[in-house]
Amino acid sequence: MPQLISAPGLTTGHAPFVEEARHRGELYITQAYDLYTEENHEAWRQLYRRIRPRWEQYANDHFLRGIEALDLPSDHIPRLSEINKRLQPLTGFQAKPVSGYVPGFLFFDCLRRREFPTTITIRPVDRMDYLPEPDIFHDVAGHIPMHTEKSFADVLVRFGDCAHTAVEITALITDEAERNRRLVNIIKAMSRFFWFTVEFGLMRGKRGLVAYGSGLLSSYGELQHAIESPEVQRYPVQLEWLINQGAEIDRYQPLLFVVDSFDHLFALVDKLENWMRDGKLNNVAPGLPEVHENDLRSFLDAA
Ligand SMILES: [Fe+2]
Repeated sequence: MPQLISAPGLTTGHAPFVEEARHRGELYITQAYDLYTEENHEAWRQLYRRIRPRWEQYANDHFLRGIEALDLPSDHIPRLSEINKRLQPLTGFQAKPVSGYVPGFLFFDCLRRREFPTTITIRPVDRMDYLPEPDIFHDVAGHIPMHTEKSFADVLVRFGDCAHTAVEITALITDEAERNRRLVNIIKAMSRFFWFTVEFGLMRGKRGLVAYGSGLLSSYGELQHAIESPEVQRYPVQLEWLINQGAEIDRYQPLLFVVDSFDHLFALVDKLENWMRDGKLNNVAPGLPEVHENDLRSFLDAA
């Protein structure tokens, strides 16, 4: 009798298609849509149905319009080609499937080209709430609806410019140790900026406080917690605080920053770049996130 082996599909931590690509050194891959199992689609369905009412309550209006504009499916994992067909005419952005972590410079440079590195795997159905790495629900349901909004898309592109500025100004430093030290600090400051805005940002909107950060918008538990819990400190964004504030990786954020608008956020990215040029990011407070060797290497290689 033939043995029944359940197909691994494209499940986080168990996706041979993705692992083999990574093993071959391939960062950019295809979505391989036919590999998704019924269980993978079921995970999407459950995640979507559970969070939808919370989006209506706590997400910013641009995000809600983005969901409609993309016609984001509720009952199956979306095909990135179909998402891109609707997304590209709006802001020029496209989801680009990747096999795993994209090192710092390459990631920011993708944003500058209006490409969003997108994970294709989905979390297992028995681990709906906590996942240490991004999956397609985080990337496509959390990030991509925001990319339909021009003012937000422009922020991401501008942020990509800053990565180029970092390369340009540090390439002039001849002392290798000093160049690396400064780059690590600049990358840390940029990562913190990204973390506290694009991933976990709050905005003051017509309906009161709402979320625009994708880490919040893709988390059923933290989305409500971020807006409602008295345990969360919420402060108007201040660049000097944000670039020196350590991030929390394994628990709900105790501290969140609020912007007034995406024009406000864009102006902050301009300020970040000016501060980088003025040397104000050369020695930020220690703490998370760690800057890994391959992140540093990606900036050095770009020079
Ligand atoms: Fe993210």
